[in-house]
Amino acid sequence: MVNLILFGPPGSGKGTQSTKIIEKYGLLHLSTGDLLRFEMAAKTPLGQEARKFIDQGLLVPDEVVIGMISSKLDANAEARGFIFDGFPRTTAQAEALDKLLALKKTSISIVLALEVPEDELIRRLLNRGLTSGRSDDADEKVVKARIVEYHSKTAPVADHYARFGKFRTVKGNGTEAEVFDLLCREIDNLLVGEEV
Ligand code: AP5
Ligand code: MG
Repeated sequence: MVNLILFGPPGSGKGTQSTKIIEKYGLLHLSTGDLLRFEMAAKTPLGQEARKFIDQGLLVPDEVVIGMISSKLDANAEARGFIFDGFPRTTAQAEALDKLLALKKTSISIVLALEVPEDELIRRLLNRGLTSGRSDDADEKVVKARIVEYHSKTAPVADHYARFGKFRTVKGNGTEAEVFDLLCREIDNLLVGEEV
């Protein structure tokens, strides 16, 4: 089984590249952002609770997202592997994910981190906000709050995986195709001698 984490700040291209990776490698895409937006659109109690945080650019509490990922892992036990997008976002989430995967006798193979300059992140998100309808893209203050949350709570997750030699950075500000090539190189290196 191959389990990837696509890591990086808001707007770095995690969702865009996940779509291409699942197509090429047949992995299952798990995006906590997408799952939360689905709950918000359906106006479930979980979605209504999550909205209070998302609209301010703040992280949703760990137990909420860990619970969502846990049930998705159980529901897709036959998957060839997973690509985690936007999860884990805190060290507590990373530790919980390690335990959930260990229960399934598997682990994270590699973390691929997209690096994009901050002014480009803001430009991309505000530009998408013109049409996406995403409440957290529309306002520059909220976009900046998401980036602050990333630096204070999410960036330390890199150390968690670097300790195990599982962290790689990839230049994320080329074209979509260029970034995809760089990611594929890392994944192909990983797959040498391993069955996906
Ligand atoms: P989430 O949905 O995960 O959002 P995010 O990571 O903040 O940012 P995006 O998903 O917008 O960025 P992305 O890296 O996927 O880039 P994308 O490919 O879309 O989370 C939203 C909120 O939910 C969080 O703020 C938090 O409140 C909550 N949440 C989610 N997960 C959580 C967790 N684990 N714990 C706690 N709370 C959680 O690209 C962005 C734009 O750039 C697009 O318009 C795209 O077309 C464009 N683009 C992509 N690649 C390129 C390129 N190479 N060149 C030019 N433009 C590009
Ligand atoms: Mg995304």
